[in-house]
Amino acid sequence: MKLLAHILCLALALALARSDVEHASDVPDRCHGLEMDAVAVNDEGVPYFFKGDHLFKGFHGLAERSNESFAELDDHHHLGHVDAAFRMHYEDSPSEHDHMFFFLDHKVFSYYQHKLEDGFPKSISEVFPGIPDHLDAAVECPKPECDEDSVIFFKGDDIYHYNVKTKAVDEKEFKSMPNCTSAFRFMEHYYCFHGHMFSKFDPKTGDVHSRYPKEARDYFMRCSKFSEESEHVERERCSRVHLDAITSDNAGNMYAFRGHHFLRQDGANDMLKSDTIESAFKELHSEVDAVFTYEDHLYMIKDDSVFLYKVGEPHTHLDGYPKSVKEVLGIEGPIDAAFVCEDHDIAHIIKGQKVYDVELKTSPRVAGNERSIPLFRKVDAAMCNAEGVKVIAGNHFYHFASPMLFVAARALPEQHRVSLELFGCDH
Ligand SMILES: *[C@@H]1O[C@H](CO)[C@@H](O)[C@H](O)[C@H]1NC(C)=O
Ligand SMILES: *[C@@H]1O[C@H](CO)[C@@H](O)[C@H](O)[C@H]1NC(C)=O
Repeated sequence: MKLLAHILCLALALALARSDVEHASDVPDRCHGLEMDAVAVNDEGVPYFFKGDHLFKGFHGLAERSNESFAELDDHHHLGHVDAAFRMHYEDSPSEHDHMFFFLDHKVFSYYQHKLEDGFPKSISEVFPGIPDHLDAAVECPKPECDEDSVIFFKGDDIYHYNVKTKAVDEKEFKSMPNCTSAFRFMEHYYCFHGHMFSKFDPKTGDVHSRYPKEARDYFMRCSKFSEESEHVERERCSRVHLDAITSDNAGNMYAFRGHHFLRQDGANDMLKSDTIESAFKELHSEVDAVFTYEDHLYMIKDDSVFLYKVGEPHTHLDGYPKSVKEVLGIEGPIDAAFVCEDHDIAHIIKGQKVYDVELKTSPRVAGNERSIPLFRKVDAAMCNAEGVKVIAGNHFYHFASPMLFVAARALPEQHRVSLELFGCDH
């Protein structure tokens, strides 16, 4: 009898555990390898990934319900999923440029700044004559990337180039492409997602160059390590996910941190290596906010704490750390970015749209000289070396000859790509 009670108990516990799992699995987790239904950037350039009735914003973070951002998708249709989405690029028509279009069965919804446009939803055949219902994917293709401002629609292996000005439809064959379940234009490149893989393609011909498909989680999502085969250096070099922090030490070695990984570029030969933060900076674990180098030490800031490592093989964490950001730098954490320029004893701390100076030789340290940096809504990372200051926001970085010129700037200088120009990713 006792045994039976035990077994019943166990069975009940298992059933409870199972119902927990089922409940949790209602909310999709992109790190489990999802096939997305639709992908598009919003009007601020933030990528939106749709799966079922959920939406992932940006490259990391949890799913939200799509109806929280786009309520009307529910009103007219019980929102099971979005078939396809794109952001219109059509500068000749301000009434459509930058609008987001969503396709559900035979309906199309047009949103501008998250508001449904009057008269929508409409039937696809009315707005995009010649384009079929029940699409798989759609992506904008402005000129000169396509010959004319166009939208490319995908259904099975049928490809339609839709000219937004003349409404002419040109059917194409993309022989080397898999059937896309979603398609995405990002930083002037074109990506077709299929399963949890993606291929980069030429929007005019559908040609896929070099080694594709690749794992979408490696490039478009910030997930901790999930596959032994992942090529870490290539992934980190080419990832479109924003950096958390960057710095270079006095020997000219550069360290760039993202999620659970970091890249180290050897100052002597420019060789890049990738490793987990856990293996080299165990106490820190992952996801640092800002890092700067001063007198052969790496100051690594995460939330309210400063971890202090002596540069070396291996890096050693100093006794007594972590300490609070307030204690070490005289400012409340968290902060967004920090850098020290060679031969200076000043840490420049970026927090929101403000920058502060901390004299590192004084004690106690105080963050003073507060100034605004209205050019940047959010700085992800910044570093300073003999060449000057590099400020990184999203996929781009900006170069300034000195901290003074960075703070004084009233217009953004030339935009550089992080993956291409900082890490030498060729695609
Ligand atoms: C979104 O959908 C869920 C599930 O159907 C519902 O509970 C929730 O109230 C909806 N939210 C909005 C803002 O419509
Ligand atoms: C691609 O779509 C076509 C239908 O248009 C279908 O016949 C074919 O089997 C699909 N290919 C794959 C690999 O799913």
